[in-house]
Amino acid sequence: MADRQGRAYDLDVLRQVLTLSFTKQMSRDSFSPQATLCVIGDGFASLTALLLASGSAGRVVLVNLTKTLLVDLWYLRLWMGAYEFEGAVNLVTDAEGLHQVLAAGEDSNGWRSVVAIQAEHHALLRHCPIGMAFNVVSMQEMDPPVIAGYFDDLRAIAGKRPTLFYCCNREEKMLPDGTVTRFANYPWWPGDQILIDELCPWHQHYYAARPPFYRPYDGPIRHRLVRLSV
Ligand SMILES: C[S@@+](CC[C@H](N)C(=O)[O-])C[C@H]1O[C@@H](n2cnc3c(N)ncnc32)[C@H](O)[C@@H]1O
Repeated sequence: MADRQGRAYDLDVLRQVLTLSFTKQMSRDSFSPQATLCVIGDGFASLTALLLASGSAGRVVLVNLTKTLLVDLWYLRLWMGAYEFEGAVNLVTDAEGLHQVLAAGEDSNGWRSVVAIQAEHHALLRHCPIGMAFNVVSMQEMDPPVIAGYFDDLRAIAGKRPTLFYCCNREEKMLPDGTVTRFANYPWWPGDQILIDELCPWHQHYYAARPPFYRPYDGPIRHRLVRLSV
């Protein structure tokens, strides 16, 4: 993937590889070439491409802020090639368009696909048959009402089918406007079935070319995998 995208297999890619490997160990049944999975706030489409390339998902619903989504899509195109990209990737902006794309996906004969959604249309997620959603160090950049909106979407999906949520974010973070968000205060519910909840082993330090090479991130990062209750 990294070769085709013309970039290094660096820590940003390695973190996603470890995320996939770990969540597969925790819930192998959630992954298959038929699965529809969701990535909220990907970067360079790394996790999205990895899910598709490894046959862990047949379809990925990718949500991001508009400008970053454009970058995600560009890197998907580099990886897939223009021909596959044209047929496989659809940007949807309303429920009608989404239903058409989802219906077409049912007849896809095993072709992999991506449904791209701009963050402002995140509520469209509620119509998607998502088995597992991923959020890797993205919610820590969102205001609490935005975080709550995504949880509402995922619980709406969980009302129709079992839905897992892998959430890996800073335990506490101060946003540029002074708002402090805390992982523990995300809208978890007591009925959520927690499969793992610990400091994420590969998200405590990052490496750099200068000594001492390994440095801690600005604060501890926790990961939690839950089956969402409704
Ligand atoms: C620090 S980057 C993390 C990227 C990647 N997940 C990773 O692990 O490297 C944060 C990501 O969150 C995205 N993001 C920020 N606010 C968002 C929102 N409201 N909805 C979806 N994505 C959002 C950003 O565009 C960016 O892609």
